[in-house]
Order: sequence, then structure tokens, then C-alpha cells
Amino acid sequence: MPFQQGDAGKGAGLFKTRCAQCHTLGAGEPHKVGPNLHGIFGRQSGQAEGYSYTAANVNKGVHWDENTLFEYLENPKKYIPGTKMAFAGLKKEKDRNDLITYLKEATA
Ligand code: HEC
Repeated sequence: MPFQQGDAGKGAGLFKTRCAQCHTLGAGEPHKVGPNLHGIFGRQSGQAEGYSYTAANVNKGVHWDENTLFEYLENPKKYIPGTKMAFAGLKKEKDRNDLITYLKEATA
């Protein structure tokens, strides 16, 4: 099941409760525990400037887009074994669709 357009408003709420403690989205915002995600769509994994990634995240070499993020966010530790992102995953397809729809706007 690939990504489908979701509800950006609901995605913003999910970001706030599930991701914002570790990630910022705007241009020039600081890294937190996790990297700033500005410009993530269309970029290879592990490329945020000035952030210290695990080799696992860098070497995954995945091209981030709606569909790779859709798969990653279901179970990050399965998609990138050895990642230090301490997040169990969003199991519901609808949640991932809503969140990714929001991320496309908020990271552009
Ligand atoms: C407890 C902190 C934490 C939470 C919560 C968290 N992340 Fe992360 N995230 C990280 C860390 C740390 C990394 C870097 C992983 C590494 O280097 O192995 C990361 C990496 C990523 C990456 C890969 C970035 C790249 O440049 O390759 C994406 C995309 C991402 N997170 C998105 C999310 C989203 C979306 C959420 C919410 C659903 C989320 N994260 C929740 C800490 C977190």
C-alpha cells in the first residue's frame, strides 16, 4: 500500500505529539536529539548538515520521498537496523498519510 494524500491538519497534531520533541522542520532551525528535517523530501538519508548520524542511517542511502517515509515511519528500527531514533513507529496507515502530507508542506 503506497502513500495516499491525507489530512495535513491532523498530521500537524501528530507531529506535535509524536515527533516535535526530537525534530524541527523549518529552515535554519536547530537540531534536537534528531536532525532538523527541512528539505528532507528528495534528499538521501543522513544528509542534514551539522548533525551527527549513525552510520546505519547514512549508509541506508535511501532517497526520502512520500513512499520511503511511509515505509520507514511504520517501523523505523526495522527499516534502518541500528538507527538511534527511539521511536516505535506509527502503525496506522492513515496516521502516516496525514503526517507525511503535513511534512511535505512544513519541510518545503
Ligand atoms: C526520541 C526522539 C525521536 C522521535 C520521537 C522521533 N525521531 Fe526521527 N530521528 C531521531 C534521531 C536520533 C534520528 C537520527 C537517527 C540516526 O542517526 O540513526 C532520527 C532520524 C529521522 C529521520 C531520518 C533523517 C535523515 O536525514 O535521514 C526522519 C525522516 C525522521 N527521524 C522522522 C521522524 C518523524 C516523522 C517522527 C515522528 C513520527 C520522528 N522522527 C520521531 C529521533 C527521533
